[in-house]
Amino acid sequence: MKPEVKTALNEQYLHELGAAHAYRALACWCAFNSYNGFAEFFNKQSEEELEHAEMFSDYLLDRGEMPEVGALPAPRTEFQNLTAVAEQAGIMERANSKGIDECYRIALEVADYATQVFLHDLISEQVEEEAWCATMLDKVKQATCAGALLTLDRHIVKELAEE
Ligand SMILES: [Fe+2]
Ligand SMILES: [Fe+2]
Repeated sequence: MKPEVKTALNEQYLHELGAAHAYRALACWCAFNSYNGFAEFFNKQSEEELEHAEMFSDYLLDRGEMPEVGALPAPRTEFQNLTAVAEQAGIMERANSKGIDECYRIALEVADYATQVFLHDLISEQVEEEAWCATMLDKVKQATCAGALLTLDRHIVKELAEE
């Protein structure tokens, strides 16, 4: 594997681990503020990000490279309200898409076909991830009173699963 591909994949590996870490922080904020449905949803996302991270480490290993587990930045833990939390999820997913696109750009540049194919599913999945983030933000914004937010909280896992 070309060193620039290895570097990019390792960076994205860490990025996915960081996303798992950051979703855990969103889940804690939600649980602390009694949005248990959102907490459940973000905990699920955290697990999904760990699965993505594992895809990167497995791929690196398959290609005979050592995955590098580096330090993770502390995630954001303070939010004004649920809208800010939903916005943060969108910011994270867009950053994640950018990281995966960057891996792909480099894989194209050095004609690493296997890495390009490996990234295809992840690129498609990011479209879904950004879509549910946008839906979630819309729904939170539409819930303009406490009662509506609590109803949304009860149904959020189901609603976004049907996205
Ligand atoms: Fe991911
Ligand atoms: Fe994600």
